[in-house]
Amino acid sequence: FWQPGLTTDEIDKAVHQMIINNGAYPSPLGYGGFPKSVCTSVNECICHGIPDSRKLEDGDIINIDVTVYLKGYHGDTSATFLCGDVDDEAKKLVQVTRECLDRAISICAPGVNYNRIGKTINDHADKFKFGVVRQFVGHGVGRVFHADPIILHFRNNEHGRMVLGQTFTIEPMLTMGSTQPVIWSDDWTAVTKDGSLSAQFEHTLLITENGAEILTKC
Ligand code: MF3
Ligand code: CO
Ligand code: CO
Repeated sequence: FWQPGLTTDEIDKAVHQMIINNGAYPSPLGYGGFPKSVCTSVNECICHGIPDSRKLEDGDIINIDVTVYLKGYHGDTSATFLCGDVDDEAKKLVQVTRECLDRAISICAPGVNYNRIGKTINDHADKFKFGVVRQFVGHGVGRVFHADPIILHFRNNEHGRMVLGQTFTIEPMLTMGSTQPVIWSDDWTAVTKDGSLSAQFEHTLLITENGAEILTKC
């Protein structure tokens, strides 16, 4: 979809139209005062970037986080995309972040401790010396956009086990440097303190007899 000069506002418009055309509602729009229909997080932006008139440039990475409300339920998913010619280290960050989500999904099943998600993600990120952001978490999702359980993406000793029929997100954010967020005065945009790149992937999962079904798979 990317071409030089594309703005995040144009992405917002396209996503908004697509959602409305399918009889759904863009969950972010008006949520806690969020002004747009989708989050667009470019380069050092960790998450919750607000679409604007800034033009995407060759070499940028951008996470597009889409949540839709349809027939009484929210579905929440995001992916990081490459704009044109992205350097190898940034490509690696994006690839490893995707792998962290895939690996975390693969260990999910009834009775599994939530803290295995954090261990799986942190172990994989460590191999490549990427940082794992701690301040933003996965969450229960369904009739409500953000609900229990809280899903930590880093190594932890919290208790709690996955239950058959449960729906929640996993949405790891990995960085090339500092994992510390700075929130802009718009009260949403979270960027890395040192300006290092950040990537994120997210799916909504359903815990089934044998594992987890990805409800937001294309
Ligand atoms: N979709 C984000 C998440 O993964 C939440 C965005 S809240 C918003 O939880 F208000 F910024 F849209
Ligand atoms: Co989410
Ligand atoms: Co999301």
